[in-house]
Amino acid sequence: MYGIIIVATYLTTALAAPTLSWSPALGEFYAAVDRHIQVARQEGTVNPPTCDLSKAVQPVAPTPLPAPDASWKLSEVIIGRGVQNYTCASASKNVKPVAVGAIASLYNVSCIAANYPDILSMLPALALQYSLPANPAANLEPSNLELVGHHYFTANGTPTFDLTTVPEPKNQDFGVAALKKNSNSTAPIDAPKGENGVGDGSVAWLKLDATFGSTGDIKAVYRINTAGGNPPTTCESSPAYFSVQYASEYWFYAQSGSS
Ligand SMILES: *[C@@H]1O[C@H](CO)[C@@H](O)[C@H](O)[C@H]1NC(C)=O
Ligand SMILES: *[C@@H]1O[C@H](CO)[C@@H](O)[C@H](O)[C@H]1NC(C)=O
Ligand SMILES: *[C@@H]1O[C@H](CO)[C@@H](O)[C@H](O)[C@H]1NC(C)=O
Repeated sequence: MYGIIIVATYLTTALAAPTLSWSPALGEFYAAVDRHIQVARQEGTVNPPTCDLSKAVQPVAPTPLPAPDASWKLSEVIIGRGVQNYTCASASKNVKPVAVGAIASLYNVSCIAANYPDILSMLPALALQYSLPANPAANLEPSNLELVGHHYFTANGTPTFDLTTVPEPKNQDFGVAALKKNSNSTAPIDAPKGENGVGDGSVAWLKLDATFGSTGDIKAVYRINTAGGNPPTTCESSPAYFSVQYASEYWFYAQSGSS
């Protein structure tokens, strides 16, 4: 009983989310939640674990990304769920889609990152299987993740993470990070191909550095454990403008010593 409460504190209220259709990702997620509940029961754990992000370990990319600076600390781990956008100059197999931005809703998974890394690593593939909630301010099913901001590109193409736009009356302000790409890695070969296992693969893992226009203390954001988002390799069957569904973990680092 305690176990269920503890795990539910940080993982899910979805043990009662009947609205979602079954998917392999959902099955894996429920199985992992159940394993944690059994462990908590056996250990007789009574208090929820703390959300100590110093315990979280960032997964290593197939081509390792540069490590965070020693003077930074991990400040947030967030799931992004949205679309990557592309243009095609013509519907030709000699033309490649060009990435023109992305838009995503951002959900706080810091406590999960600190305590349940196995579950964290499942969340992008799980999120990809389900649409964003009809109410844009609602939590993300099935793991009941809290909306804490938005990812978008500015008119001049700057990838931006806005952690201020949360529903009233919270009025949180964790800053707006304007970023530029530092380095990338292809996603692991077993990364999801797309929704229902169909698609063109998962977007690259990235290290993005804070640049001019950032507010707050964020120094870098890593895009990790991506799910979906890749375009077809050529424009042969693509319209001039299209969006591809994706989800990802985003690891935010701030200058140590700042809040
Ligand atoms: C991406 O496309 C979506 C529609 O699918 C649109 O709402 C969004 O504004 C676009 N964002 C960018 C940066 O192109
Ligand atoms: C995310 O959750 C953690 C733990 O509850 C909290 O400390 C942190 O401020 C939250 N971040 C945002 C952006 O809401
Ligand atoms: C990584 O970045 C380089 C340089 O911008 C680019 O040519 C390459 O396609 C990128 N790789 C991936 C997997 O996105």
